[in-house]
Amino acid sequence: MKAVQFDQYGPPSVVHVADVAEPHAGPGEIRISVRASGFSAGETALRSGARKDLVTLPFRTGYDAAGVVDEIGEGVDASELGARVFGMTAANRRGANAEYAVLVHWAAKPAVWSWAEAGGAAGAIETATRVLDQLPGGTILVHGAAGGVGTVAVQLAIARGATVIGTASARNHDFLRSLGAEPTTYGPGLTDRVRGVDAVFDCAGGALPDLIEIAGDPARVVTITDPAAPRHGVHFSHSAAIPGADPLAVHGLAVKLAEEGRLGIPVAATFPLSEATAAHELSERSHAPGKIVYVN
Ligand SMILES: NC(=O)c1ccc[n+]([C@@H]2O[C@H](COP(=O)([O-])OP(=O)(O)OC[C@H]3O[C@@H](n4cnc5c(N)ncnc54)[C@H](OP(=O)(O)O)[C@@H]3O)[C@@H](O)[C@H]2O)c1
Repeated sequence: MKAVQFDQYGPPSVVHVADVAEPHAGPGEIRISVRASGFSAGETALRSGARKDLVTLPFRTGYDAAGVVDEIGEGVDASELGARVFGMTAANRRGANAEYAVLVHWAAKPAVWSWAEAGGAAGAIETATRVLDQLPGGTILVHGAAGGVGTVAVQLAIARGATVIGTASARNHDFLRSLGAEPTTYGPGLTDRVRGVDAVFDCAGGALPDLIEIAGDPARVVTITDPAAPRHGVHFSHSAAIPGADPLAVHGLAVKLAEEGRLGIPVAATFPLSEATAAHELSERSHAPGKIVYVN
């Protein structure tokens, strides 16, 4: 089958489609014929060589996908065969950007989502749910609110009853308003523009001193991206897709919200697997709001 991988560290051009053996579902797992899969922004740092500690070469990319179940492992109900689902690969396996993927956590694909939306959903939902569970409610600042994780975090926080302020580039402000967040720009003066916040969810990085001042306490800030977190006494919440972390189930509430029309997965751009280099290039520059997705 075709799968996206890189065999060496370097620029986006090192990512390519390889012919690899099809995976098979182990106990408690399903295999899907992938219709769409999420581009993982964090994998640009794995590809560049910045996080060699997390990589074994060759490295197959992607940890969330949506598709049709075509194989079930021992212990999985036979009624799952043929189901349309979205979900996540095992923590240390990845390989979702492919023709077939083995999932360890999955849920029924909401009919209101396209395949592209479902393909980019599971990782962002897992990440946003995990971090929101670690923060107090009230008024939340989502820093980097127009990204793949940020757009989902905004919607899930609002569904929990929070008031949400989101930082984004000015061109994404109307989009953030459409999600129900009050937008503001990045950069100088942020601590003057944003006040009275109970918690900060950092999806963008590079601003921890300001974010701590805004929250009033480093314990009220969680980052998923800023490596300076330990120096500032801020919790870095690690992806369930990183080896050693406990994978978390996709949140059932998210499926319900989707069916109620309260949770969309904005898609910034779609690419076929054969254009993985272009997907990496787009991720590394400013892009439309939402998630980059591979569509088979
Ligand atoms: N630890 C975890 O569990 C976990 C899980 C998933 C992702 N992550 C990490 O979290 C970060 C966000 O993920 P994502 O999927 O939301 O990524 P993404 O879709 O690329 O979004 C990143 C957002 O950051 C904003 N941004 C602010 N400053 C930026 C800059 N200097 N350059 C580029 N963008 C900038 C952009 O907003 P504007 O376009 O409005 O400027 C963009 O929408 C990534 O670093 C990713 O690796 C961590």
